[in-house]
Amino acid sequence: MRILITGGAGCLGSNLIEHWLPKGHSIYVLDNFATGKREVVPEVDGLKVVEGSIADANALEQAFSSFKPEVVVHAAAAYKDPDDWVEDSCTNVIGSALVAKAVKQYGVKRLVNFQTALCYGRPNQMPIPADHPTAPFTSYGITKTAGEQFMLLSGVPTLSLRIANVTGPRLSIGPIPTFYKRLKEGKGCFCSDTARDFLDMSDFLAFMDLAIVEGAPTGVFNIASGEAHSIKEIFDLVSDYLELGRQDVPIVPPADDDVPVVSLDPSATEQAFGWRAEIGFKETIQRQLAWYDKYGVSDVFSHLKAPEQKA
Ligand SMILES: NC(=O)c1ccc[n+]([C@@H]2O[C@H](COP(=O)([O-])OP(=O)(O)OC[C@H]3O[C@@H](n4cnc5c(N)ncnc54)[C@H](O)[C@@H]3O)[C@@H](O)[C@H]2O)c1
Repeated sequence: MRILITGGAGCLGSNLIEHWLPKGHSIYVLDNFATGKREVVPEVDGLKVVEGSIADANALEQAFSSFKPEVVVHAAAAYKDPDDWVEDSCTNVIGSALVAKAVKQYGVKRLVNFQTALCYGRPNQMPIPADHPTAPFTSYGITKTAGEQFMLLSGVPTLSLRIANVTGPRLSIGPIPTFYKRLKEGKGCFCSDTARDFLDMSDFLAFMDLAIVEGAPTGVFNIASGEAHSIKEIFDLVSDYLELGRQDVPIVPPADDDVPVVSLDPSATEQAFGWRAEIGFKETIQRQLAWYDKYGVSDVFSHLKAPEQKA
């Protein structure tokens, strides 16, 4: 299959590439490297990487007309600076609108969009079903929610995934790498009094194999384990893993722009796709820590081997 991945140099995109290239798919990446890294997607057989923005109609035109993708996975997103509403809007709204127009114009068979659980805002139901109203209140959430609406308007079969916190190679943000790094360095930590839903990369990738199949269900689905675990539970697992024993750690209230608990209900997804998360919470965290043991808390290691430089 010919698959265009916007934002393919990012965490989810680059893991998809490492998973899909060996299966024989051809992949085209359009990424501006705002948060992704070129080094993790060296050009190997079957992979073309182009630097450019999805908010640039010419870059998209070039990608679609030259590569003629059958499937588009829309993973590009801006979120780096919560106060940069303009950049978030350019990428997440205008960029998404341009991608949505292009998939229709170029006859793409299937569009898969990645959405944040922040679209639900402060949910009034837990776990959150995929038909819960959206009420985002951050720049990232607001712009991603507008972008998702354009995706669903694209006129081609579209699947939009509201995704839990996926762990896996190159994860470099959030409590797991923070606790691992600080505890190894003998530094103090604190835990926010919040809980999140964690999904192992292998479960995410198994779902994505089903997501790109022609004729698979379309619409909006939650991709999650369905369980919320507290940040303190993560801290304890990291501390145990590093054989530091149980430690007292300050628990601080969630910040004003934070959501105390996010647990996504995956039951509709399980029914529609015959998929469910296989890796339990403890193993998910331990796999991540084992990855850091091997490769460090770095965001640049790639499992793709760059071709030798010619002299
Ligand atoms: N990782 C998760 O657990 C998670 C959870 C929920 C939703 N998501 C969504 O999944 C997608 C991928 O997330 P990620 O964790 O891999 O983040 P990431 O930051 O690693 O990847 C995003 C990629 O988009 C690229 N990008 C940003 N602006 C761009 C632009 N204008 N044009 C082209 N490329 C651009 C970045 O350089 C980066 O490579 C995002 O849409 C995010 O909202 C991720």
